[in-house]
Amino acid sequence: MKLEPEQESILRGEQGQAMGMAMRTLVDYGRAFKASRLVPVQSAHLAGSFGMFNLRAYYKVLARIAASGLKVKVKTTCNPRPGREAGLANQFIFREQPRLEAYLDTIGVTGNYSCVPYDSANVPGPGDRLAWAESSAVQFANSVLGARTNRNSLLIDLCSALTGVTPEFGYLLDQNRRRGILVKLKAERVDAAALGFLLGQKAVNQVPVIEHHPFSRIELKNMGGAMAASGAVALFHVEGLTAEAPDLKSVFDGAPARTITITQQDLDSLRARRPERASIVVFGCPHMTFDEANEIGTLYVGKKTKVPTWFCLIPEVCERFRGTEVGRQVQAAGVEIHDFCPLAALTVRIGRRRVLTASGKLFYYLSGTDYGTVEDCLKGSGVL
Ligand code: F3S
Repeated sequence: MKLEPEQESILRGEQGQAMGMAMRTLVDYGRAFKASRLVPVQSAHLAGSFGMFNLRAYYKVLARIAASGLKVKVKTTCNPRPGREAGLANQFIFREQPRLEAYLDTIGVTGNYSCVPYDSANVPGPGDRLAWAESSAVQFANSVLGARTNRNSLLIDLCSALTGVTPEFGYLLDQNRRRGILVKLKAERVDAAALGFLLGQKAVNQVPVIEHHPFSRIELKNMGGAMAASGAVALFHVEGLTAEAPDLKSVFDGAPARTITITQQDLDSLRARRPERASIVVFGCPHMTFDEANEIGTLYVGKKTKVPTWFCLIPEVCERFRGTEVGRQVQAAGVEIHDFCPLAALTVRIGRRRVLTASGKLFYYLSGTDYGTVEDCLKGSGVL
């Protein structure tokens, strides 16, 4: 790998031991993926936001960085909090949360605590190079916004935040953003999260290119999140809708590697047969935006939930939503508004065995969870 003189100097430890360690890690990471250079990034997003009791090595690294006085070099946001208030077990498992947050604050990380940083805390532009972790955010940044990031891991994200560089390989390069599989839709009711779940399983680590469908921004978020969970997808295109796909020709070098068709039956096959058996209904994985909470919230206005129903929102918009007429009525209907990650909050779920969610990502990661469309979830809440 060819390094710039300043990068060589950092590697020799001339800007301190902590910076030297971060640069060494990135150089080794880049060599493993045959990167030929390190390139500057506009921002970083960290996945390590859960203060689990057993992440001792992570806290040790953060403590050393904090003690050295080093700060992040680029705008750096971080993932959600784990929801320690969601029960005694969580208070025990995530007992290092205050210590972790103090470290992140000391080194200059923005305390947005959301997996949807691109809503306002950290908004990339087309062509920006990023060093983001959190697969759903990577997916949105690459696909919808046309920025460029690999699916980085915890600690690698931190090394890039400190040095302001990332190895150039994978989705930072043009050629890896264009090869893909063509996806045809044969369905009257396209449920975006279910589609994302199926595409992740079928595409695995290829780039799905979906024939035109007028997905909303919220649907793109939820579809991408599901796809990045059930598969290793980091980029998808929608013809005539997403950043790099004004038409099919722009995203294919020649013919597609293969073509797949998703039918209504495929989408419906994921849905729980009896959504009304739910013991808790969950929305917001990835976090709900203000508009999304408003849209789904409207469906709860004037009703009364029969089982706990969670809306998990971007913390920045939580208070604003609570204060709106819809927000007030949603709470009056019995919906709980939270700003944590529902996956972490429900990992130990005593008495809440039948989770029903409209999130393809939560459905994939939280074992034993049922999936349902928004309408199914309304039935699960007992309001339909
Ligand atoms: Fe976000 Fe937690 Fe889901 S980090 S994408 S709400 S698993």
